[in-house]
Amino acid sequence: MTIALEQAIRDKSAKVGVIGLGYVGLPLIRAFVAAGFRTMGFDVDQKKIDRLTAGESYIKHIPAEWIARCVGQGAFVPTADMRRLCEADAVLICVPTPLNDSRDPDLTFIEQTARQIAATLRPGQLIVLESTTYPGTTRDVVLPILRRGGLEPGRDFFLAFSPEREDPGNASYSAERIPKVVGGIDAESGRLAQLLYAQAVAQVVPVSNCEVAEAAKILENTYRAINIALVNELKVLFTRIGIDVWEVIDAARTKPFGFQPFYPGPGLGGHCIPIDPFYLTWLARCNGMNTRFIELAGEINTSMPQYVIHRLVEALNNACKPLRGSKILMLGVAYKKDVDDPRESPSFELMKLLLAGGAVLCYNDPYVPTLPKMRHYDVPAMSSSPLTPELLAAQDAVLIATDHSAYDYEFIVRHAPLVIDTRNATKRVSEGRQKIVKA
Ligand SMILES: NC(=O)c1ccc[n+]([C@@H]2O[C@H](COP(=O)([O-])OP(=O)(O)OC[C@H]3O[C@@H](n4cnc5c(N)ncnc54)[C@H](O)[C@@H]3O)[C@@H](O)[C@H]2O)c1
Repeated sequence: MTIALEQAIRDKSAKVGVIGLGYVGLPLIRAFVAAGFRTMGFDVDQKKIDRLTAGESYIKHIPAEWIARCVGQGAFVPTADMRRLCEADAVLICVPTPLNDSRDPDLTFIEQTARQIAATLRPGQLIVLESTTYPGTTRDVVLPILRRGGLEPGRDFFLAFSPEREDPGNASYSAERIPKVVGGIDAESGRLAQLLYAQAVAQVVPVSNCEVAEAAKILENTYRAINIALVNELKVLFTRIGIDVWEVIDAARTKPFGFQPFYPGPGLGGHCIPIDPFYLTWLARCNGMNTRFIELAGEINTSMPQYVIHRLVEALNNACKPLRGSKILMLGVAYKKDVDDPRESPSFELMKLLLAGGAVLCYNDPYVPTLPKMRHYDVPAMSSSPLTPELLAAQDAVLIATDHSAYDYEFIVRHAPLVIDTRNATKRVSEGRQKIVKA
């Protein structure tokens, strides 16, 4: 079994299947196609499969031409037919790992996917979980489902974990350029998974087992969440005593060792940083411990939208205006610059607070033409308003929530009466600085 799979990986005749064709799964397909593998993409969302089959893209940084070419050449076969999972020699799982309503890990998608794989699991298949999750998921949740059919792990089939480190919007790091940490449930699974990724990415980082690989990913994201909380807290303090936190960070980052810059903002966003640390918090509770650092960071980061609104209300007050009835234009609803992904974006919490305060709200985001339905937010249906001088001038305040590079900040400040900047996006604006309030 091992020898045939190893040979197929080495000569690239192995077929690579990816389950979950979202922000992680599609770039992964791209890396394996670029490496010369034939790929299959599986998704339960028939609309995504139809669009891919028609050569269309639904992710800003994945070009439609590339999809059309690969699908046309047969290098990428998108399908919603999970019975075809048995055709893939390696199956990489990239499905969502959200939190449930009580902020505990929701492994429904992983479990469902494992059952789909188990239904057609055959000898000689390598399964790799890529979704971010707590240490122990691959062995304690996925493995028991896969072995229900009687196949023996490490002999008949192989199972590993390799976390995804996609950085959407960062053109310098395509999937194949990012080192891949890989650990198996046993030595043979680890070895085969490491061999597979070594064909497609620049660097593989082997670790002793899947638990180390799972924990490494959670550590990376928790490290970010905590450091962002630190600068968010310092932003509040420094603002109070009249110091610009962004200038402080830029000065501190000139230290050539021992300091990595993190930047404050209106709160955490995206599918990873606001969520993943709570997978660890849950695991700690199961083991009779509290992760106080993580809880504290969560508390500080989730309080940021209220702080931003407080600064906005203060600035309106200085202009003798109440929030109720004030016209506010929000710039950016994507969770970070230059992406089209609004998931967990702090912009939605900001909108909720503004609407609750009676503001008259509109928004602009070049990458989010209409507001999507959000799981936790009941924001009204809205479309992105064209960013004209008239629109800017008609506002009481413009709130920069996402610092997209496409925005002309000189133009924005020139026409808006008041600009609340949560990202230091206006740092190079030369005229009208008295209208800018950092928040
Ligand atoms: N987006 C990122 O930047 C990023 C970075 C690193 C890690 N991750 C992690 O990667 C995982 C996937 O995230 P994403 O952003 O790609 O999510 P996504 O929502 O963009 O994509 C997930 C896809 O999985 C599909 N899906 C759900 N259940 C399925 C099933 N049973 N069978 C087949 N398809 C199914 C969904 O329809 C969706 O298309 C998560 O664990 C996330 O934490 C994401």
